[in-house]
Amino acid sequence: MALKRSAALIGLAYAAALSMAASAQTAPDGPRYNGTALLRPQYREWVFLASGLGMTYQPINDAQPRPPAFTNVFANPSAYRAFLQSGTWPDKTVLVLEIRSSQSEGSINKGGRFQTTVAGLEIHVKDARFGGNGWAFFNMGAKTQAEPLTGSDVSKCVECHAANGAVDNTFVQFYPTLLDVARAKGTFTGGRNP
Ligand code: HEC
Repeated sequence: MALKRSAALIGLAYAAALSMAASAQTAPDGPRYNGTALLRPQYREWVFLASGLGMTYQPINDAQPRPPAFTNVFANPSAYRAFLQSGTWPDKTVLVLEIRSSQSEGSINKGGRFQTTVAGLEIHVKDARFGGNGWAFFNMGAKTQAEPLTGSDVSKCVECHAANGAVDNTFVQFYPTLLDVARAKGTFTGGRNP
């Protein structure tokens, strides 16, 4: 009898420990901060959403043609999995836009373009700590940490993302697998549709 009861107690303690571990791990890959500064994430181990090539948002200025850059977008895995369930982004979402220069005619390559060095790193984080709709923008560049953009540095980011992002201020219309999910879940609010 005593043996049975202590086995049951051990079982209970084990279940409690498991659930504590689970709650401590709600977003182990979520944003990490040093005070108010966002720490540079290990985003290259995250979920790849899409690459844009030479995307521009102003009329093209043919007088100064520039080689097109790739924009690689990554999501932290826990936010990605939540998006698959709900069609939108949870608290503690981290989306990374890695801008890479491109080149042609290197090695055996004769046509088309391949990716080269990192030319920029911008980050979009959803976290209740920022208030409002929860989103904040960061220009990480080559730094190890960055403060949230504020004032006139962030107003153009906010305006374009809010007006044109198809799901909750993000450009899901350009992330093809998530676009299908958002359509299926009914969270695709339009933005400017592809
Ligand atoms: C004129 C419109 C426009 C402005 C201004 C803009 N973005 Fe974006 N942003 C986009 C588009 C379009 C994408 C999708 C890129 C792709 O598919 O490669 C994007 C994607 C992103 C992403 C990937 C996650 C997401 O939200 O979809 C981040 C991070 C990002 N932008 C950061 C910024 C930051 C930081 C600023 C301001 C410094 C900014 N953006 C300003 C249009 C804009």
